[in-house]
Amino acid sequence: MKNYLSVSDFSKTELIELIQLAIAMKNGESVIKRSHFLALLFEKPSLRTRVSFEAAMKNLGGNSIFLSKEEVQIGEREDIKDVARTLSKMVDCIAIRISSHADLEEFAQFSSVPVINALSDLEHPCQALADLMTIYEQFNGFKNPQITYLGDANNVSNSLALASSIVDISFTFCGPKDFSMNKDFVNQCMALNDNSLLITEDPKVAVRNADVIYTDVWASMGEEDSIEQRKPIFLPYQLNDELLSSTTKKPLIMHCLPAQRGNEITNEVIESQNSIVFEQAENRLWIQQAIMSKLLSSRD
Ligand code: CP
Ligand code: NVA
Repeated sequence: MKNYLSVSDFSKTELIELIQLAIAMKNGESVIKRSHFLALLFEKPSLRTRVSFEAAMKNLGGNSIFLSKEEVQIGEREDIKDVARTLSKMVDCIAIRISSHADLEEFAQFSSVPVINALSDLEHPCQALADLMTIYEQFNGFKNPQITYLGDANNVSNSLALASSIVDISFTFCGPKDFSMNKDFVNQCMALNDNSLLITEDPKVAVRNADVIYTDVWASMGEEDSIEQRKPIFLPYQLNDELLSSTTKKPLIMHCLPAQRGNEITNEVIESQNSIVFEQAENRLWIQQAIMSKLLSSRD
């Protein structure tokens, strides 16, 4: 049994195989149908992750059950380890969206079935794989595109930085000094590939040679109260037409969604021709279908 808690849980070969399997599934090939049950344990809101997991499990011939924070009340009604041991007696796979990555790891430790990180405070690995799949499709493979991420160092940027290091893609992180990448993630990326990561506070330098510019909200779920205080600090990192005028290529625009138009990205840029945000969103379905297929087939 293998969990998928971090992007680094898969090797470069496994990751590329997953992307190719997801593309085959997207083209109507390679669907392994077995009757499995997926539990979705979500402590935070979701549109894309919930729907893509449920649809993917249905495509694989299985079923899913959604459990909200109010229903299960982890840590209040029941200890996390008891929820893990009970649920894993009843289902074949569990996708969890939870605040604390440490709680996710504790859950996985007590679960007897594969656990998938559907977003924690540290990582959003399914998002990162869908993003890599989208880049792989757009550039016909990984031909060393330059990805620049603008804004807050968060779960999305952590997973994307790690994923880029695994597949040898150049990744530039650009955000305000006090919201820059955590040293542990920088070290993990450097250990995987000491050339792939660049960190700068200068947005014009960061976007100049980018093939892809990626951004995410300035305040993640649970941090919403800090947005007014953050706005002036993050404003120089807004993805807007003025910043795009200093690029040398015509970069693709990516965002994991949901977006706060007028904050991290302008309406014009997210609606522009080079925006591939809905291609990204669709690929959540295919990559999670491939991930579940892989994790479940290794148990059968
Ligand atoms: N990108 C993403 O995970 O979206 P949701 O929060 O809507 O699931
Ligand atoms: N960084 C965002 C991603 C949402 C998909 C958050 O954690 O809220």
